[in-house]
Amino acid sequence: MFTSVGEMLVQTVVDTRLGWDYDPTGSRVRTLYERAKEGQWKVEDIDWTLDVPFGAPLPDDSAFAMSAFAASPLAKRGRPAWDEFRWELQSWMVSQFLHGEQAAMVVSARLVETMKDLESKFYATTQAVDEARHVEVFSRYLREKVPDPYPVCDPLRLMLESILSDSRWDVVALGMQIMVEALAMAAFRLANNTFHDELIKSITAMVGRDEARHVSFGVLSLAGIYDEMTSAERAEREELVLESASLIRRRFLLEDIWERMDVNRAEGVEFAAYNDLMVAYRQTIFSRVGHSLGQIGLLGPNVRKGLHQLDLMRYSEETKR
Ligand SMILES: [Fe+2]
Ligand SMILES: [Fe+2]
Repeated sequence: MFTSVGEMLVQTVVDTRLGWDYDPTGSRVRTLYERAKEGQWKVEDIDWTLDVPFGAPLPDDSAFAMSAFAASPLAKRGRPAWDEFRWELQSWMVSQFLHGEQAAMVVSARLVETMKDLESKFYATTQAVDEARHVEVFSRYLREKVPDPYPVCDPLRLMLESILSDSRWDVVALGMQIMVEALAMAAFRLANNTFHDELIKSITAMVGRDEARHVSFGVLSLAGIYDEMTSAERAEREELVLESASLIRRRFLLEDIWERMDVNRAEGVEFAAYNDLMVAYRQTIFSRVGHSLGQIGLLGPNVRKGLHQLDLMRYSEETKR
């Protein structure tokens, strides 16, 4: 199925914690845990008979998108190349979702071990189950409906390696629950505009509901903790945010797609880096990450400046916060 099947091995030593205090605390994490139990669904609940006409001609894109096409290296090949690009983008996005979901499953299990209080362990356990379901649902979609899915792209692999190789629970939670999860949630919310079949739209709607809980868990777990850190510790977290953001930007330069479509790499990357549509798309999917960073108190001047330099934050959002 995937053109390069392999594995990723990360060695990390972590502190595994057990506590003997079982009294309920009535915390908001507890409420989230109850909601997670009620919100379980099965991959079989999805209507798998829906057809995915992969590669078929697509309806007209928005005027904004059509002008992006006219400015793209695909323009000289004519309109069918734009539709081909739109399907490849969907295949690539869903493939990267799948690889990210697997990492999210592993991270949730890590958080069960490393987080201190019992209710956080309860919650993270339900998240591991959610993520297993997400791996199941996206891998089935790709196996059954998409001719040639993509392997994990380099920027995502680097980001996952960096998250998984850190032994500190808060750094792992920041990287996964905020940077990866909030981005995925925003991408799922855009599915109606960016994806082209009803099956993937119904899958992302179901998965998106779970991801909203995961982001809330990240925010509840991390809000306020930076106030208690030294400025050096805090600066380290800010740096991590900017490194992840830079890898997210690089991911959306879409190198794998240009290669597959036989587009000159430099021309494709240039288009993805600077075209208004592509910049706006990155800013839109990144806005949820920015919002969550604000909620946990990590959107200080340095982070804002860095995100602005990466063109990931709109001016209106910068002034609003
Ligand atoms: Fe997930
Ligand atoms: Fe998640």
